[in-house]
Amino acid sequence: MQAAQNSATDIVLFGAKGDLTIRKLIPSLFNLYYRKRIHPDCRIFAISRTLLSSKEYRHLIFKNANIASLKEPAGREAWKRFTDRIHYIPFDASASDGYKALVEGMNESPAPQRRLFYLATDSSLYANICMALQVNGLINKHSYIVLEKPIGRDIQSAKAINEVVAQYFDESHTFRIDHYLGKETVQNLFVLRFANPLFEFQWNYQFIDHIQITIAETIGVEERADFYENVGAMRDMLQNHLLQLLCIIAMEPPINDKADSIRDEKLKVLRALRPIKPELFARQVIRGQYTESLNGRPRSVSYTQEKGVSPDSTVETFVAVKARIDNWRWAGVPFYLRTGKKLAQRCCEIVVQFKPIPHSMFESFNAATQPNKLIIRLQPEESIRLKICSKETGTGMNIKSTELNLSPNHTSDRVLPDGYERLLDDALNGKTTLFMRRDELEAAWQWVDPIVHYCTENHHVPEPYNAGSWGPPSSTLLLARDGRLWHEMS
Ligand code: BG6
Repeated sequence: MQAAQNSATDIVLFGAKGDLTIRKLIPSLFNLYYRKRIHPDCRIFAISRTLLSSKEYRHLIFKNANIASLKEPAGREAWKRFTDRIHYIPFDASASDGYKALVEGMNESPAPQRRLFYLATDSSLYANICMALQVNGLINKHSYIVLEKPIGRDIQSAKAINEVVAQYFDESHTFRIDHYLGKETVQNLFVLRFANPLFEFQWNYQFIDHIQITIAETIGVEERADFYENVGAMRDMLQNHLLQLLCIIAMEPPINDKADSIRDEKLKVLRALRPIKPELFARQVIRGQYTESLNGRPRSVSYTQEKGVSPDSTVETFVAVKARIDNWRWAGVPFYLRTGKKLAQRCCEIVVQFKPIPHSMFESFNAATQPNKLIIRLQPEESIRLKICSKETGTGMNIKSTELNLSPNHTSDRVLPDGYERLLDDALNGKTTLFMRRDELEAAWQWVDPIVHYCTENHHVPEPYNAGSWGPPSSTLLLARDGRLWHEMS
């Protein structure tokens, strides 16, 4: 086990009863505690409006904790010690009077100097929370803040939030979290691209035909209709997860591993994204909304029949976009990005489709060659595979497409840390590399905002797609028009 690295910290979780805190943050904090990555004197203050005692809250999180180590006696003992350090304080974070209870709670016993405020609420509350923390004397020079995505609804609101947060927290103490950056394969991507000259030489418009980035989910909106009705797939996934993956695939090699060196390069990609003009919207952006599943197995309702969703909602649960990066490396290479709920499979994949060979010497054998393809899978199981052509054993010259497995440790059964676990660990240790900088966030909004506005202004209606499919037919057309296919169809 690794020794604790960070000093004792008070962790204050706003949005403590939310799905994210219960399903992701608490288990991640516990795993870090169990692995001794969190100082034993840390305390956790869980804030939410619901009237509960700390005991009731501990019971609630235990009921929902799906943690492997809790099956072992050592895990259960550690859970007891960990949850003894959790104090639930019910108050409304948008009203300033509730903060006194937090101050009292934190002052009850000698407190660590270091503070990490985690804001997992609607981002419209972020400015108020920061101001209330300041007024109540809770921010000191050892205070850090984590902001959950989506931060803002558009460029203006994102800028306004950034402005207020910056009054109280230095940029080096501000962690704009995107949990996709904490996934193991994303770390591998840096190594694959920047530790292997083999790929770097091919990594440009001369050799790459196009790139696809897919985040497909089989789940629907679940219990999060309130949240989802306000965001939709564009704000929930495109503005952050998809664009962050695009940045890592497309960025130039950073000069070193310092947070700003990496973030500078990501920012350049975001700034080079070609704006999608209104007249090209129909050819470059597809919005969809799920309807019932075709064969009814498993039985699934349409989005507008979900609990909490307006029956005439035009919120998109699917989006596919053809993006262009206007720089020397990527001139003419389309990036097809898509994400959706209730799709055929749960998978997050980046597919780098190389160009065909310029001339085939195998024509006379009537043997077709397939262009190389690099398939980087982030989930469910993480892998990196390269499709190459090889000769079929035997007489004659038959060429077949085979896959080389380039996955590091693909035979190992080790349990990889969840994205949140890695990022919380980084935040507790003050490392900002895997978090979005202020200008990055704003540049991402700058590109997404006109797309969202176009839909609102034109009362754009999303195209229906059957739950369990790969999205609306227009999504296939998006690539077919360019003579291409999505990976699962090719
Ligand atoms: C979250 C979105 O950021 O990511 C959710 O708000 C989505 O709507 C989730 O389901 C997907 O994350 P993962 O790690 O399960 O792919």
